[in-house]
Amino acid sequence: MSRTRIHNLAMSLDGFATGEGQSLETPFGHAGHRLHQWMFATRFGAEMMGRTDGGDGVDNAFAQQFQPGIGAEIMGANKFGPPGWQDDADWKGWWGPTPPFHTPTFVLTHRPRSPIEMDGGTTFHFLDASPAEALDVAREAANGADVRIGGGPTVARDFIAAGLVDHIHLVLVPIVLGRGVRLWDGLEGLEADYEVEVVSAPSGVTHVTFSRS
Ligand SMILES: NC(=O)c1ccc[n+]([C@@H]2O[C@H](COP(=O)([O-])OP(=O)(O)OC[C@H]3O[C@@H](n4cnc5c(N)ncnc54)[C@H](OP(=O)(O)O)[C@@H]3O)[C@@H](O)[C@H]2O)c1
Repeated sequence: MSRTRIHNLAMSLDGFATGEGQSLETPFGHAGHRLHQWMFATRFGAEMMGRTDGGDGVDNAFAQQFQPGIGAEIMGANKFGPPGWQDDADWKGWWGPTPPFHTPTFVLTHRPRSPIEMDGGTTFHFLDASPAEALDVAREAANGADVRIGGGPTVARDFIAAGLVDHIHLVLVPIVLGRGVRLWDGLEGLEADYEVEVVSAPSGVTHVTFSRS
């Protein structure tokens, strides 16, 4: 059975998964890179950035679960690009010629465009569809494998609220952002639907998983 998974979704102590004021220069707004320093320090994160260093501890054990078993990703328009990317016919995402997805990747947007085939197995498809409809399309493309909901927080929240997500891996980062996009709004009592596990890492972040079978 194909599952729907969220991985490495980093969040501040006050519940923000991105900062305010996203732009071409600041993909995470005023949060800068503070939500993801833990991942850059892992072997998984280093490999994603073309480096050969990186730690092999608890953070890496969680981070590397991002790809195995995944056959498609769904992401939001604001993860794919800065405000206004829909007006730039040449915009192909932040990730250069070889994005780290390596599967069909469905970008939810109210202004869809033709698919873009990238190196390394990623093809960006653009969909204006409800979460349930988008998941059906992504499942078909995943051909029996799992579908990752890649974020950002708005799309993650919408899929969780619709009851479509089987596994959520959150990373609680000990910073207070004060403003940005919140994950939890409208998800009161979410923990009742999942088995919840928590692991604190020496780096200072806390991994929280919500799983259901
Ligand atoms: N903390 C993390 O681990 C993490 C992970 C991923 C991303 N991020 C960050 O999160 C930020 C983006 O998150 P976000 O919450 O602002 O936005 P988002 O979830 O990436 O995208 C939301 C946008 O997607 C489009 N959309 C959503 N649902 C749709 C639907 N059903 N049909 C059609 N279009 C739909 C809409 O854009 P339009 O109306 O403009 O088309 C909507 O405004 C970025 O800063 C990114 O870097 C953080």
